[in-house]
Amino acid sequence: MQVPPSRLAPQPLPEGVVSLLDHAIHARSLLDEPTWAYLFGGAADEITLECNLHAWRHIELLPRVLRPLAGGHTRVELLGRTLAHPILIAPMAYQHLAHPDGEHATALAAAALGAGMVLSTQSSSPLDEVAATFLPVPGRGPLWFQLYLQEDRGFTEELVHRAERAGYEALVLTVDAPVQGVRDRERRAGFRLPPGVSAVNLAHMRTAATRTLDSGQSALFDDLLTHAPTWNDVAWLHSITRLPILLKGILHPDDAREALACGAAGLIVSNHGGRTLDTSITTAAALPRIAQAVRGDIPILVDGGIRRGTDVLKAMALGANAVLVGRPVLHGLANAGATGVAHVLRLLRDELEIAMALCGCRTLDQAGSALNSHNSGT
Ligand code: FNR
Ligand code: LAC
Repeated sequence: MQVPPSRLAPQPLPEGVVSLLDHAIHARSLLDEPTWAYLFGGAADEITLECNLHAWRHIELLPRVLRPLAGGHTRVELLGRTLAHPILIAPMAYQHLAHPDGEHATALAAAALGAGMVLSTQSSSPLDEVAATFLPVPGRGPLWFQLYLQEDRGFTEELVHRAERAGYEALVLTVDAPVQGVRDRERRAGFRLPPGVSAVNLAHMRTAATRTLDSGQSALFDDLLTHAPTWNDVAWLHSITRLPILLKGILHPDDAREALACGAAGLIVSNHGGRTLDTSITTAAALPRIAQAVRGDIPILVDGGIRRGTDVLKAMALGANAVLVGRPVLHGLANAGATGVAHVLRLLRDELEIAMALCGCRTLDQAGSALNSHNSGT
């Protein structure tokens, strides 16, 4: 099933697709219902999924005119590197569900467009092969490995060392999903992983025997969650790796402060794209509060509902140092493999430049001036 990078066949873009929303509509027409349910659904009533989008849309920009724009650029500094632009690809499991080239196509497109990539623990391509696709590309952005701490901590440690050896430059520890959300859409559609798509990085992992529970005990609290990571595990993770660790899924300012105290190298403000706790705060609303708590000590990234260049500018204006994009990348992947992902990234970056120019921002450190100060809730 895996296609070596050199053999990724260029695929034409579908006609008339000029925005991320167009990509979404086209992808929906290609995928069967269960696959769509997994790749694009959210938890429960999908309120957070929906509200993430609305929150960015409803923040108003306040254009500025006649300001000098020559020499402007989208460059940002992140963890000691200069990036061509602040757009990274969020970690997403099982990308072979969207396209036979899977994570290789995503990696190739991201690297070519100078976008950072975060590979999921549950990727359907081996982590070292994705790194081999991404790392040699000139002008590439950062490559990070998203970690789900496994119950078998020995296996987790080995996984971290595999990521280090493969050349990943940071770990992104996802902390907002000790249990899966209530995935009604997936269950309704009867989603199951098809043969040939699996979490290959976790192959050969010892799976824990299920405990026998007394009546009245909870399968969640008395079994699954007895091994859920805690702040102590973040300290443990620091002790076994030299890589910087970012925490993904921070929404509460107190958690942001605790993460700082724990030595986190960065935070990702995220509600998992509305796939975990439905009705949770939107990321656009959470971001300024986290930025205030962190006070510039470590970088903050944000994801959830970023679909336009204007959304990227708003995120930067509210205190983000960079953004991650999730589902639209899978839409592009489903539509045209690596070409589709590259198109999605190109569209976002072009739109960001246009938004900056129309708001009179030559550089992204001027993004704050682009917001209408009467925005409610920010
Ligand atoms: C995800 N997300 C996710 N996050 C993570 O930390 N590890 C993972 O393996 C996955 N897997 C995953 C699969 C799919 C199909 C989706 C859609 C999402 C969450 C992801 O990293 C990100 O937080 C959201 O997708 C961002 O929201 P948008 O841009 O999709 O609205
Ligand atoms: C998801 C898990 C893999 O969102 O994070 O599907």
